[in-house]
Amino acid sequence: MLLLEPEARSALWRRLVQIIEEYTEHIDAWRVTAELDPDKIRSMLAPLDFRRSWDPLDALEFAAENLWRYQTHTPHPRYYGLFNPAPTTMGIAADALVAAFNPQLAAWSHSPVAAEIENHLVRAFGVRFGYDPASLDGTFASGGAEANHTAVLAALARSFPEYAQKGVWALRGQPVFYSSVESHHSFVKAARTCGIGSDALHEIAVDSGLRMNPEALQSRIAADRADGLAPFMIVATAGTTNAGVVDPIPKFAEIAQREGLWLHVDAAWGGAAILVDELKYLLDGIALADSITFDAHKWLSTPMGAGLFLTRHPAILTRTFSTPTAYMPREAAHLSVVDPHLHSLQWSRRFIGLKVFLSLLVAGWDGYAAALRRMTAMGDQLRRLLADSGWKIENKTPLPVVCFSHPGGPEPEAIARDIVRSGEAWISTTRMGGKVVLRACITNFRTGDNDVRALVESLNASRLRQGAAHGAAAQA
Ligand SMILES: Cc1ncc(COP(=O)(O)O)c(C=O)c1O
Repeated sequence: MLLLEPEARSALWRRLVQIIEEYTEHIDAWRVTAELDPDKIRSMLAPLDFRRSWDPLDALEFAAENLWRYQTHTPHPRYYGLFNPAPTTMGIAADALVAAFNPQLAAWSHSPVAAEIENHLVRAFGVRFGYDPASLDGTFASGGAEANHTAVLAALARSFPEYAQKGVWALRGQPVFYSSVESHHSFVKAARTCGIGSDALHEIAVDSGLRMNPEALQSRIAADRADGLAPFMIVATAGTTNAGVVDPIPKFAEIAQREGLWLHVDAAWGGAAILVDELKYLLDGIALADSITFDAHKWLSTPMGAGLFLTRHPAILTRTFSTPTAYMPREAAHLSVVDPHLHSLQWSRRFIGLKVFLSLLVAGWDGYAAALRRMTAMGDQLRRLLADSGWKIENKTPLPVVCFSHPGGPEPEAIARDIVRSGEAWISTTRMGGKVVLRACITNFRTGDNDVRALVESLNASRLRQGAAHGAAAQA
């Protein structure tokens, strides 16, 4: 039963392809959001006790039907959400191929072509970010959180040579690192799981444009040193999760150099701007960073998860992760290659790079630049239409994430809830400078002018509905 008969296999593959095609072609006619009823889902699953063997086609249909029904459809052109894209067609094909060939990316010799495709991509992206191809290095990761975790570990390994072996006990001062209050919370998790504790992350205030304030950083470093703490790293963000803001990287590169600290740039989403001539100025100075996080599963639209950690220090990943064993394969020991597990937090791992490789082979840098330009233009269009309808744009970025509110209007949370419940779109709220605002991100290369107009119409209608409800409640 684990390997189906050839006839059953072909029927299964045919239906699978049909389901993928139906979803890809018709998702835009479907509601974006799902009913959130855990009891309903659990009672549907409860009778499945795995005692009876199912027909493979019925099993596939069961999964597909329920994914249609119970999912916030991130591939929907009216999903204005977190940085989750519609997946590239080549990325879907790549993930299916990887599942079938199941290459093992722990040992180079088990899948030389997979390992070399990933190395090729590490070089290609590293060079696009301005790193010297002779010294750059990197590794694929499950996503931005793992790449950021890798950065914290690498910076600790560089700053405290005894950390890898003896752990935090051996360190003479509490290690501390810095990021802005707007940075991604994966650094809090990284601090916890590296054993230095979340208090080791010192969050730095931002200026009125939500960029990390260099003076505030500089004085915090001085105060920490005076208190006997041991600063080791600065994190700048290129494209914040909340508001798409880019920290001024050259200023932080200067401080990092002067203070002898590791500079990491979290460009998980915004890093894709490097592929667009008129946007790449946003990332000026990124080549000065000691390391970079970049996610292909965000603005490059590959299926999840495809993160990249890049560095200009060729020995640091080995210093951070290398763990020799007797049982790992030795066939490639005489070759000038590195076993991926010696460079990564993961051991046995999926061939992450293929979905990036095939997507890039088919779209090319130019195809990607065109898609990124289109999403950026849709962001501009959304800002324009919102402003025309009296909404106030709260963030300043050329990237397509828009934070907004309506002066004197109903609570943003009530509007977001109303729209999500309607199924017309998915948007969310966030907090900016203590104020709750609506947030809509164009994260889908299929989102068009009609989708953006529909969102603004939904927002305007919801504002009137909520306003009327609020007025009625106040009168009652
Ligand atoms: C700036 C930034 N860094 C890191 C992450 C974490 O990435 P992932 O969810 O791929 O682990 C995110 C997620 O949105 C992000 O916006």
